[in-house]
Amino acid sequence: MTLVDEVKARSDIVQVISQYADLDTRSRTPKAPCPFHAERTPSFVVFPDTGTWRCFGACSTGGDVIAFVMRKENLQFGEALKHLADLAGIRYEPNERRGDYESLYKANEIAAAYFRALLNSPEGEAARSYLAGRGIDTEAAKRRGFGLSPSGIETLAGHLKARGIGAGAAKAAGLVRQGQDGGWHDMFRGRLTIEIRDRRGRIVGFGARSLDGSEPKYINSPRSSIFDKSSLLFGLNWAADGISASGTAVVVEGYMDAITAHEAGFDNTVASMGTAITAEQVGLVRGLASEVILALDSDVAGQAATRNSLESVWGAIQSHRRSSSAAGGPSTLEIRVATFDSGKDPDEVIRGDPSGDEWRASLKEAKPLLDYLLETVAGTYDLDTPDGKAQAAGELRPLINQVPNQYEQEAYLTRLAGLLGVSLEQLRMSAPRSTYRRRSPGPMDREPPGANDAAASALNPDSVNAPEDYLLAAVLQKPELREYAMGVSEEQFRDPVNRAVFTILKDSDTLEDAALSGVGDIADKIERLRNRALPPMDHREMVDAISDCVLRLHQRHIRTIKAEENRLLPTDGKALPDDPQQAAALAQRLVETNDRLQHLFARRS
Ligand code: CTP
Ligand code: MN
Repeated sequence: MTLVDEVKARSDIVQVISQYADLDTRSRTPKAPCPFHAERTPSFVVFPDTGTWRCFGACSTGGDVIAFVMRKENLQFGEALKHLADLAGIRYEPNERRGDYESLYKANEIAAAYFRALLNSPEGEAARSYLAGRGIDTEAAKRRGFGLSPSGIETLAGHLKARGIGAGAAKAAGLVRQGQDGGWHDMFRGRLTIEIRDRRGRIVGFGARSLDGSEPKYINSPRSSIFDKSSLLFGLNWAADGISASGTAVVVEGYMDAITAHEAGFDNTVASMGTAITAEQVGLVRGLASEVILALDSDVAGQAATRNSLESVWGAIQSHRRSSSAAGGPSTLEIRVATFDSGKDPDEVIRGDPSGDEWRASLKEAKPLLDYLLETVAGTYDLDTPDGKAQAAGELRPLINQVPNQYEQEAYLTRLAGLLGVSLEQLRMSAPRSTYRRRSPGPMDREPPGANDAAASALNPDSVNAPEDYLLAAVLQKPELREYAMGVSEEQFRDPVNRAVFTILKDSDTLEDAALSGVGDIADKIERLRNRALPPMDHREMVDAISDCVLRLHQRHIRTIKAEENRLLPTDGKALPDDPQQAAALAQRLVETNDRLQHLFARRS
């Protein structure tokens, strides 16, 4: 039995909750005014036989005993677990994994201090004047985490060793690598270093720019257990407040772009670090921003790789929007794209006009993502030929089909028809599905259309939690798919460990934070999910399979609520709730739940 199971089995949910709520325990389903919001009539219900609770009133949340304590005491999963374990007299031992990662952060801190000191030493003269030439004085260099890596082969390696950092940790942090001779060599030599911090301000890695024009221009820390470029945004530690204050996140590409923007006071700027923006990175600012502006360098703007990643961001946003509105969640992010003429990058635009007007104007003129894609895709193909028209339509129609609003969808189709020089009827009649996939058929196309169901059940056919497990395994193994899974809410996970894993995945800057939770059950589960064999599928099939899981979890969630509501209704001749207002509200809710359920099932067919 896992610790989580044991804690749940040995906690008396009625007793725990009665510490916080005035439960009327005369009924088999004890009720109280909801402890999470002010109300006069009791709409908070505990179901002792399922070990769950739900508020049928204003906050309409629910969960198990762990979820209750987390919410009420404002605790993390592990903390709530410990609290309940203590109450139930269960011995609790947080696992030791935490230490592994702490040593990497520590190695990075020591390296950063070393780099900073070297930049300020006589040896840093040239690097300092390079920075000065780019508008970065000593103070700014300090604020923005610049440093200089030594030019020797094993200088940092030696320093780390002297400071008690073993070769294992230094290597795991990506600060040293093994040379031909078997010795440990510094990763960055004679380069301008830039600290890369996560949202919480911990140094997860470094970017290192060459100062003498040698290639590559940048060397970055290799991917490690605390550093994954595609799931980080450079500068988010500086920008989080600015983003939530303005409601807008501006995503530039380069370190220097983000740093210059912040120095100029544009405090809602983050950098994608040269990788084509990922849906996961966009997901990092969800919750902070209602709008994301992608500021693309002109040299990448039309490129196929950029287009591809923007299309996948678009897909992720739409999928999130659909599932979150089905769950009654908040509306999602608006994405716009800003481009700059004359080959300038944001760093140059901002420094070229100290008033900031040019930069502000470019952001203001940013186009909605789909408009931008429509124009660039149309510009990519030769629209004078039938073949070119078909290709452009084949790429764009699936994107347009995802627009949730019918009228808006219609408007985009009309525009596409205009761009292609065909009538709306012609466009409609052309089969969009045949060109849906741009790649040629491969071995994976043998997968039957029902691959999604297969995917969910192949993992563990017996498990009622197959969709939960699949969703988590897919996201853990393919972080770039994370965004597609974010339409689910924590509450919809029935298994408390799965719920905790999901919460960590959702809130963490890097996936590896998951293992930092310090709870053995969670770490074990993550390990299992990571190693689980997923059926072979291409990207789109994976996305479909994940969306399918999201939908299933929604449906199950609503069915659960409906079943709970049914239990509160008179079945054996007993009256509806005494309070007529409450009885009416309950009846109304049942109608609504039915509607939502029907709506969700209609979507599946
Ligand atoms: N990048 C990288 N490795 C490279 C080149 C680029 O990791 N060899 C990443 C870096 O994060 C860089 C970003 O891509 O900041 C954008 O690249 P680029 O526009 O070439 O660099 P800038 O940030 O503009 O740097 P600078 O202005 O110093 O040339
Ligand atoms: Mn630049």
